[in-house]
Amino acid sequence: MKYLFPLLIISNFLLSNEIDNSFITKLEYGAMLYKNPRGVGCVLCHKKGNKIVEIAKYKIVDKETKKLVVKSIIAPAINNVSFDKFVQKLKADKTESKVMPTYFLTDDELKSLFYYIKNINKK
Ligand code: HEC
Repeated sequence: MKYLFPLLIISNFLLSNEIDNSFITKLEYGAMLYKNPRGVGCVLCHKKGNKIVEIAKYKIVDKETKKLVVKSIIAPAINNVSFDKFVQKLKADKTESKVMPTYFLTDDELKSLFYYIKNINKK
């Protein structure tokens, strides 16, 4: 009988915590998704999200001048995008550049990710 009481408390504690994932904050969850969504991490192309990032440089021959010109593929800053545009982009089958991958994130994941991007540089 002496040991029953603490045992009850422990089992109660375990049960009540079974599906509670509030131990990670929305910001931490967003940060996790940014680095490791289901797919290629946003961080690889967008870095901190607050600046234009040059992902790649390449050279092509200009058809008119026949001269070699340097072009680059650029990832835009994403910290000032509206929620609507953000969702539209991330749910798009293919974005205009065809560089950014297609993601299949849930609405909750998108909300956390957006929250993170908005708060990313405030620390
Ligand atoms: C392989 C590189 C790459 C990865 C990985 C990537 N992006 Fe992008 N992203 C781009 C490029 C390039 C553009 C601009 C052209 C376009 O829209 O296709 C872009 C555009 C965007 C835009 C629109 C910005 C604007 O002003 O139009 C948002 C928002 C965005 N990305 C968010 C994300 C998020 C969130 C992730 C991760 C889930 C991600 N991107 C992963 C390359 C990438």
